Amino acid sequence: MARKTITGIRLATMELNMGPYGLVDRGAVAVEDDRIVWAGQEKDLPAEWRKAEAEDFDGRLATPALVDCHTHLVFGGNRAREFEMRLEGASYEEIARAGGGIVSTVSATRDLDENQLVQAALPRLDALIAEGVATIEIKSGYGLTIEDELKMLRTARRLGTMRQIRVVTSYLAAHAVPAEYKSHADAYIDEVVLPGLEAAREEGLVDAVDGFCEGIAFSPEQMARVFDRARSLGLPVKLHAEQLSNLDGAKLAASYGALSADHLEYLDEEGVAAMTKSGTVAVLLPGAFYTLREKQAPPVAALREAGVPIAIATDCNPGSSPLASLLLTINMASTLFRLTPEEALAGVTRNAARALGLHREIGTIAPGKRVEIAIWDVEHPAELAYRIGFNPLHRRMVEAVS
Ligand code: NIG
Ligand code: FE
Repeated sequence: MARKTITGIRLATMELNMGPYGLVDRGAVAVEDDRIVWAGQEKDLPAEWRKAEAEDFDGRLATPALVDCHTHLVFGGNRAREFEMRLEGASYEEIARAGGGIVSTVSATRDLDENQLVQAALPRLDALIAEGVATIEIKSGYGLTIEDELKMLRTARRLGTMRQIRVVTSYLAAHAVPAEYKSHADAYIDEVVLPGLEAAREEGLVDAVDGFCEGIAFSPEQMARVFDRARSLGLPVKLHAEQLSNLDGAKLAASYGALSADHLEYLDEEGVAAMTKSGTVAVLLPGAFYTLREKQAPPVAALREAGVPIAIATDCNPGSSPLASLLLTINMASTLFRLTPEEALAGVTRNAARALGLHREIGTIAPGKRVEIAIWDVEHPAELAYRIGFNPLHRRMVEAVS
């Protein structure tokens, strides 16, 4: 049994009901193998632990390792030309309807094999790891054939074996209607989305089922068909909802007990109420809001008031959010959405873990949780939200099961 203590740390445990950030000024943590067994003030460290091997961090800040709970990390090509077109006046929706947007990344992704997709995704993954990320969600959704969706999910799983990081996958075949099914979205669902889900499930490639509910993608009725199949397979669901318009996607997701509803710029009061009732996490994506120069911010005050847990994520993707920095995302969530730095940090730790259904395992520094801790060269946790383009990570501590 490997026992050790971590001392000389200012602890932002991010535990609820422990004051701002769950802060413990002169803190210590005791660990046994891959589990935290004790956390508190160093002076209270139980006697049995005082003899254990100790690693001292000179007063640095410790937080839970970060969780990026919404990414499209695996894709081919890039969309810099589309970025130029938007600057010349075209909108995201116009580009999508003209066959650009998601569908253009689909061609670039279909062209690559699994090895090439791994090579394309690794630099993005490494950038996130360098900022203290220890858990990442990765979606499919740029393959849109059964084989290409499976290829994306296999790539995601493989990334999880190449680095010390937990990869959680989401099956997102209902991301866009591919050109070969143009105007035949229902046939696409019957012939690709549903059988692909069964195949991916069979191969152990799916942790949750996602979709894009929007005028340029799938209707709530179509998403309900996908969610029914997810339910019958025992898989949790989540949804890209209310990003560009309000189709009551969040209400639909909540009615299936969704883990999360994501984006939510156009969410209304009824949607907030439905999410409150189902305990669905609101995943806000300031990178997409910023990139698309969206004017309407998600209803943060109403979500806060209703007690809906708020998470934030990079949404790393080649179109609406070419962002591979979770620290910058924290800053954007505070500046653009007015999340407090404490809410923003909870959004990439405690609540992001909840959005993935992993809140019993990770997301706070507390007895029973896994040893996934980030140590930072800062004094106060608000500095993580306040700085721009600065990475103060000192150490990412991830204990693998021995
Ligand atoms: O989360 N909203 C839909 N899907 C992605 C965008 C994907 C793309 O533009 O390639 C998103 O913003
Ligand atoms: Fe997304």
